[in-house]
Amino acid sequence: MITLKNIVKAYDSKKDSSRAVDGLDLVINKGEFVALLGPSGCGKTTTLMMLAGLLKPTSGEIYFGDRLVNHVEPKDRNIGMVFQSYALYPHLTVRDNIAFPLRERKMPKAQAYERAKEMGKIVQIDHLLDRKPSQLSGGQQQRVAMARALAKDPEILLLDEPMSNLDARLKLDVRDEIRKLQRDLGVTTIIVTHDQEEALAISDRVAILNNGKIQQYAPPEELFSQPVNLFVASFLGNPPMNLIDGVIKEENGEQKIVTSGFQFRIPEARKLEAAHIDKPVKLGVRPHDFMLAEQTDSNAFPMKVDLVEHLGSGKLVKVIDPEQKLQTTIRFLADNETDVRHGDTIRMKIRENKFHVFDMTAEGLNLMQFR
Ligand SMILES: Nc1ncnc2c1ncn2[C@@H]1O[C@H](COP(=O)(O)OP(=O)(O)OP(=O)(O)O)[C@@H](O)[C@H]1O
Ligand SMILES: [Mg+2]
Repeated sequence: MITLKNIVKAYDSKKDSSRAVDGLDLVINKGEFVALLGPSGCGKTTTLMMLAGLLKPTSGEIYFGDRLVNHVEPKDRNIGMVFQSYALYPHLTVRDNIAFPLRERKMPKAQAYERAKEMGKIVQIDHLLDRKPSQLSGGQQQRVAMARALAKDPEILLLDEPMSNLDARLKLDVRDEIRKLQRDLGVTTIIVTHDQEEALAISDRVAILNNGKIQQYAPPEELFSQPVNLFVASFLGNPPMNLIDGVIKEENGEQKIVTSGFQFRIPEARKLEAAHIDKPVKLGVRPHDFMLAEQTDSNAFPMKVDLVEHLGSGKLVKVIDPEQKLQTTIRFLADNETDVRHGDTIRMKIRENKFHVFDMTAEGLNLMQFR
């Protein structure tokens, strides 16, 4: 188990604003695969470097199991690391690259080479052991870097954007391979990425960072369906969640959200606390959670189709309210069979309980209770 306790990293300790990591708490279980995900500059690499021991936290504690490792040298941490650039030694063969960390640990050459061959087999590059890195494709170099990181049987594997140099197709294959390898070896793994699809696909849990702080740490499906705040909600998802200004109203014990273009009833099970009544909020609905209403649906509203984009797997429909009072264009995803055209007036509804309500504080907290 890895525990980060209230970790702060200020590159310039005199300035509070220079905190690259700002009070980070994180627990990673043994054998778990965790992603650090967030926009550029949010502190992902800084966090990984502190785990590796290449940077010292300004304050806070890092534990591997019960052992405080703040002052333990990188070479004594039993970690393997793969960087974005792979950082292979260009003048060494693949065999010597993989064997390098073992030779550093004074393993006899024959034994280190044997191990290099074994690792080469695992990542399927054992036919390339005599080549130099420049004679390999990007994907092959990536495998060599993985083999080198795993050669000394590390307890922890740290990956910093390890797939960013690969083309889209290869990325998918390598992603699956990394996950499979990680499962087979049971090595605790932390991957840094700003690719949300990658993070969600590969990880047991994802920590979403912004401004050096964890916004939410949860399994992928929970982040997606139960975002704790506006940042997480709008960061995840493509096309992004629709965010619409509205006000909570209550009449005859029934709550509704009133926007300038439409209104809809909040189901009984999702009712908000009385304190929120008459307060402005942001309504959040994912594009696939809007749908065409049936004749019998009472909780529906009219919208006018402005644009239909064909995505192949379906249609992305942009709608505006017929009176054009709503400032926001709503995007919703329809299947290919849905017959909607520019200029049509349609009746829409929101999928049962698939909406979020965020308050107007700086944090934009999600007010929905998830039960
Ligand atoms: N050596 C350094 N000296 C001063 N500031 C730094 C240093 N390294 C990083 N920073 C700053 O710390 C913040 C976090 O940087 P970090 O590299 O951890 O971000 P990141 O999340 O990995 O971003 P990216 O996705 O672009 O790689 C940034 O504001 C960055 O400018
Ligand atoms: Mg980085």
